Amino acid sequence: MNYRHAFHAGNFADVHKHVVLLAILARLTRKPTPLFFLDTHAGRGLYDLHSEDASRGDEWREGIGRLHEAQPANPDLVAYLQAASATSEKTSRQFRQYAGSPLLALTALRATDRVVFVEQQPQEARALERALPRRRGVSVITGDGYASLKGYLPPKENRGLVLIDPPYEAADEFVALEKALRFGLERWPNGVFAAWYPIKLDGDYRRFHASLQQSGLRKLLLLEFHAKPVDSPMGLNGSGMLIANPPWQLDTAMREALGELLQLLSPDKTGSVRIEWLVGE
Ligand SMILES: C[S@@+](CC[C@H](N)C(=O)[O-])C[C@H]1O[C@@H](n2cnc3c(N)ncnc32)[C@H](O)[C@@H]1O
Repeated sequence: MNYRHAFHAGNFADVHKHVVLLAILARLTRKPTPLFFLDTHAGRGLYDLHSEDASRGDEWREGIGRLHEAQPANPDLVAYLQAASATSEKTSRQFRQYAGSPLLALTALRATDRVVFVEQQPQEARALERALPRRRGVSVITGDGYASLKGYLPPKENRGLVLIDPPYEAADEFVALEKALRFGLERWPNGVFAAWYPIKLDGDYRRFHASLQQSGLRKLLLLEFHAKPVDSPMGLNGSGMLIANPPWQLDTAMREALGELLQLLSPDKTGSVRIEWLVGE
């Protein structure tokens, strides 16, 4: 397995995922009590948008590249852009780097929160260690993110978020994700879980949804951002986030935020946003 997120860093899916990630953390940090954040597939933390890998598909140009001069009205988009700017190098013309979930999350987390980043590829984990600011309460583990659920859940803080953002290189990734969600929620029923999934013509995500509807799990919210029609034949059509136990009114807030994001990222109006409870209370 040699997945390199650098190809995709800063693309529309990363932007969508990170807007949602920061919106959840903003709501969880409204209470002063410490929380726990586990990022099971953390990546390298910071991506050079002009590297050979990133330049190959230039995917970021249709994601963060469209937001360089954006002045959104929505407060969750404003907070996201502030975090993306604060964590990466920019010129007056464009972003030169893009931060991944670890650096972005740390902009929202407090010194009293406990944070664990898990990354399987040693080279990526080392790069993440270099990219992170020195800070107490933050650790990087080289290993399997799914296995880390067993070691870290339930956390002593009993408040917080687990982000599961796998690469979907393996044919059975959706199966592994569902197993992880069932296991994690059994161990920590009131934890917030956010899982990213790709929306492609193959429809694997629909089978994943159908299976979760039969699982007995409750309070599952879908926040999907479709950059193009979901039946487009090639590549990634949309970016999905499944949230278990979302903070109060996240659905309403994301309807506004993702609606505005769509206008910024999909000016030709071929995209759409889907916000729906897969399973309610
Ligand atoms: C989509 S990227 C993560 C991006 C990151 N969460 C972000 O938003 O910036 C997926 C990462 O998972 C790593 N990975 C793959 N399998 C893994 C596993 N079983 N456990 C932990 N990390 C894994 C890959 O090396 C890759 O860096």
